[in-house]
Amino acid sequence: MSKDEVVSPHVLIFPLPLQGPVNCMLKLAELFAINRLRVTFLNTIYIQNLLLKHTNVQSRFSNYPEFHFETIPDGLSEDHPRSSDKLLDLADGIEEVMKPLFIEMLTFGKMSSKSSTPVTCIIADGGYTFVVDVAKDVGIPILYFDTISPCALWTYFCLPRLIELGEVPFKEEEYDKRVTGVCGTENFLRCRDLPSFFRIRDLSDRIIQYNLQEIHEIPRSQGMILNTSEHIDGPIISQLSSHCPNIYSIGPLHALYKSILLSAQKTSEQANYSNSLWEDDNSCMTWLDAQPHKSVIYISIGSLAILTGDQLLELWCGIVYSGKRFLWALRPGSIADKDEKSKTVEELSDATKDRGCIVSWVFQEQVLAHPAIGLFFTHSGWNSTLEGLIEGVPMICWPYLLDQQVNSRFVQEVWKVGIDLKDRYDRVAIEKAVREIMEDKKDEFQKSCSRMAKLARQSVGDQDGSSHCNFSRLVEDIKMMRLLKPSS
Ligand code: UDX
Repeated sequence: MSKDEVVSPHVLIFPLPLQGPVNCMLKLAELFAINRLRVTFLNTIYIQNLLLKHTNVQSRFSNYPEFHFETIPDGLSEDHPRSSDKLLDLADGIEEVMKPLFIEMLTFGKMSSKSSTPVTCIIADGGYTFVVDVAKDVGIPILYFDTISPCALWTYFCLPRLIELGEVPFKEEEYDKRVTGVCGTENFLRCRDLPSFFRIRDLSDRIIQYNLQEIHEIPRSQGMILNTSEHIDGPIISQLSSHCPNIYSIGPLHALYKSILLSAQKTSEQANYSNSLWEDDNSCMTWLDAQPHKSVIYISIGSLAILTGDQLLELWCGIVYSGKRFLWALRPGSIADKDEKSKTVEELSDATKDRGCIVSWVFQEQVLAHPAIGLFFTHSGWNSTLEGLIEGVPMICWPYLLDQQVNSRFVQEVWKVGIDLKDRYDRVAIEKAVREIMEDKKDEFQKSCSRMAKLARQSVGDQDGSSHCNFSRLVEDIKMMRLLKPSS
């Protein structure tokens, strides 16, 4: 191909093989397809099989002739649990198996067997630090999409300064000490609010080193996509832009997605398909229909977190003693040690049949939008946080890992839409927080949640919203992208 030959835009989308990133990137991919961009979506074989089993992705995306799925192995055996306590196995599989295959696919132009046009833009998860080097080698522009929260990403960028100031590593006795090295958060961020993996003893820790690499590689890309908006994260976006000047904030993406699909004459049903890696149990929607307005606590710890038997029991007792109705999405495999305590839970569960509904997995966006939901008991994953925020549902945060520790602090201190119960695994604290949000300070929380929901919706509500404008700019920039050097 000659250098001047015009090539039609073709985006390669490469999500991390986890529920949150896959969900976000599928939505982004469909928005591109609606805008007539050619898209190749590269999933791991494992994730693709789960999507084919539990969702309608195949038929949904067959409506877009320029959209194709491709797959790549993740290097793990089929029966590997791929759970949060085994994320380092996944990192090994990616490094040893996926990375060389990806490089080969891209270098020899074999990225899409179903499309003859070359890839003109790569959108990869910020966690794939190796992609920027390959992209530069083959001359394809790259944008990183960091699907974690921008507030946590900002702490990653501050890590060198935190180390320089001696604020990381920190000791357990220092958990409540204010952190000074994360610019803009000095008034409220404590050591315990830093990402879970900052709780290390030794800076040679693998995840810390990985993190340092990530903040080195992301600014080498042509731009960074974030799942947030100016209204939610204005100050954080401006801090991040000192490292990555070209930022596209297009969130909350699930709401932007609905807004664009509806304006593209899709039906409400078509704008509400789930990308779940587990089977959605929709029976809970009928149960919710029968519950009074804002009376139900929705409980979920997301797609990765695992509860110990002790934590499960404390959570159960806190919820049950609060006397409120509840809907619990108890993901298969989310309890570590099924022992005597689980039996107690079974008894409790029998005793609360009249006011509780327990299922294994729900279509969360729909659940949070239901008028019966009055409180979200969450692990503070970034997608869950945005989904709760936009529906104006107050939250009790019980963060476990990764960015969740930072998100929960922002929920309480910045957006003021919930209570952060980080590191407090006790029933009394849970029951008290439930009563505070659903009874004592109900009006106060409702007011701040409505305010934040309104702000979040402004970014995606109409064509002039900031996330709409940033998305249009992203599409136009992709259309302008040309290969940086001719492919062979
Ligand atoms: C973790 C991180 O905390 C997150 O910030 C990061 O981006 C990915 O890894 P996870 O446990 O998957 O995330 O949480 P979250 O980001 O909240 O994503 C979970 C997704 O699963 C949400 O979109 C939620 O709607 C969905 N979900 C969860 C369901 O559809 N049904 C359920 O029953 C539970």
